[in-house]
Amino acid sequence: MNQSLSRKYANILATDLDGTLVGDDFACDNLLSWMRSELRDFGLVYITGRHLDSVRDLINERSLPWPDLLVSDVGAQIYVGAALQIDMTWQQMMTVDWQPERIRQIAANINGLKQQSLPNDSRVSFYSDGSVPAEQLRNRLLAEGLSFNYIFSSDRDLDILPAGGGKGEVLKYIVANYAAEGANILAAGDSGNDSSMLTAGYPGVIVANAKPELQQLEESSILYRAEHSYAAGILEGWQHFYGQRKQ
Ligand code: GLC
Ligand code: MG
Repeated sequence: MNQSLSRKYANILATDLDGTLVGDDFACDNLLSWMRSELRDFGLVYITGRHLDSVRDLINERSLPWPDLLVSDVGAQIYVGAALQIDMTWQQMMTVDWQPERIRQIAANINGLKQQSLPNDSRVSFYSDGSVPAEQLRNRLLAEGLSFNYIFSSDRDLDILPAGGGKGEVLKYIVANYAAEGANILAAGDSGNDSSMLTAGYPGVIVANAKPELQQLEESSILYRAEHSYAAGILEGWQHFYGQRKQ
């Protein structure tokens, strides 16, 4: 293993991008400079629904820093460090028993599903006309005995991932492999595809501008609902769990 793949962080912020870290540029700069100056050994992790090129565009557009770990495609891919080295162990786990072509064939017969155009097969995603076509696909895939993970968000976006994929599972993998013993962890999100990482067993923050679908998550002492939106809500969440002092 090279150095970046074996690096373990004492403080990890695992954040969604659109609608969470991104949305208020001033608050975003403020959050990241606070974390970099106050936290020793800070690992910045982006966990987004976007594919790699689309993340790259967003990073450039909004002048975001490159993260230490970049998880794209709703948790299907992990890239490590500035060299974007693929985490091969995760990649292998994501390709066992994965049949994207079969999923597309089955979806082709369902009205109200439009396939998203994506650069690779690490997931198969659709725009669904509300939840009914999405549910129909889920039932058909189950009836066919396929293994997959179903993620529906914003009443429109349908992501079918390999079984064991998704933001929650990837966060558990990251904590197991990239977090130091007893590390401070915070997950941050604003929409349905974030719910699995907000309930993965680590402290989580729902930013104030979150979609209504996250209001349904059960109350828990490790799930904090921020009063502030976007990155200001993330900082509020971090300070709620870990205080305002250096860690
Ligand atoms: C982002 C991605 C899209 C995905 C959605 C929900 O918008 O671009 O492909 O379906 O997130 O995860
Ligand atoms: Mg989002």
